[in-house]
Amino acid sequence: MRPIDWIGDGARLVDQRLLPHQEVWVTCRSLADFERAIRDMLIRGAPAIGICAAYGLASVALQGGDLEEACVRLAATRPTAVNLFWAIERMRKVWTNSPGQPERLVQEAVAIHDQDVAMCRSIGEHGADLFEGSVRLLTHCNAGALATGDYGTALGVVRSLAKRNQVQWVWVDETRPFLQGARLTAFELQREQIPCRLICDNMAGHFMQRKQVDAVIVGADRITRLGDVANKIGTSTLAVLCKEYGVPFYVAAPWSTLDLAMDSGWDIPIEERSSLEVSHHAGTAVAPEGVTVANPAFDVTFHPYITAIITERGVLRAPFADGIRIMDQRDEVALGQSGG
Ligand code: MRU
Repeated sequence: MRPIDWIGDGARLVDQRLLPHQEVWVTCRSLADFERAIRDMLIRGAPAIGICAAYGLASVALQGGDLEEACVRLAATRPTAVNLFWAIERMRKVWTNSPGQPERLVQEAVAIHDQDVAMCRSIGEHGADLFEGSVRLLTHCNAGALATGDYGTALGVVRSLAKRNQVQWVWVDETRPFLQGARLTAFELQREQIPCRLICDNMAGHFMQRKQVDAVIVGADRITRLGDVANKIGTSTLAVLCKEYGVPFYVAAPWSTLDLAMDSGWDIPIEERSSLEVSHHAGTAVAPEGVTVANPAFDVTFHPYITAIITERGVLRAPFADGIRIMDQRDEVALGQSGG
């Protein structure tokens, strides 16, 4: 399920806030439309946010709008996923090198989208190669087709394993407070008839203790040079549980999620979202009125807790900093040799 597509003068995207019960497609043409789509989470997931921003800049260019202003406004929508800033910088290079050619920005945005789909498929295959036999995986949030150009990162691995008949079932964390697991991951898996069991976030430890989780696999919003990973709030708790119970903890992400300018996970900006996401459920208050709420949308899993990071370039293991440096250079050489 592609969550977004270019339609010639703008983008069409599915409003993920309404899934799984309503499938409503929204058209974005103005900068304000794209800003709202990302900020209000009609579209979400690190790679999908980057693709949406690229389409936003292509639209602004076609309308002869101010691209610098568009960059600043789009960059201010959500702070944690580095794919947003990566996509904006990639688009900026294009209009700097080809001024007055808005169609070049459209081509670049479509290329960002197409390449993301190819990267997800490659992540899926690399990840599936790590497993033998039939497995019970646990995932958190939604790192599926809806969070990317299509296919997904963590769910890309699940999809590739399902094609090999290696998925016994997937434990799906509901992912409080925004419920990306319950609403989106369960929806994607059910649609493809991949067996899944929805659980509340606080049940994961119980099933690990009873040896019913063979591995945890999650996506990422930003990975630093040392291999520290920001992902949906609750991810680091899972990683700590995995260490205690001896369960492998995998992160699946495209290279565009690596922030090589940042060393430590301590430096990753963590988005704080509305208190209503915590105090209310589906518009109804569940907490006493006026209660003080904290709502960080992401947390950081530090690299000692991570078994491996699965990328389209291959699988990274400790020491992550060395692997990341070598794989980054290796790809640059490969691109240089092929003339890309
Ligand atoms: O707040 P969200 O829904 O944008 O958070 C999404 C996640 O944390 C995903 O796990 C991450 O972006 C990876 S998506 C392939």
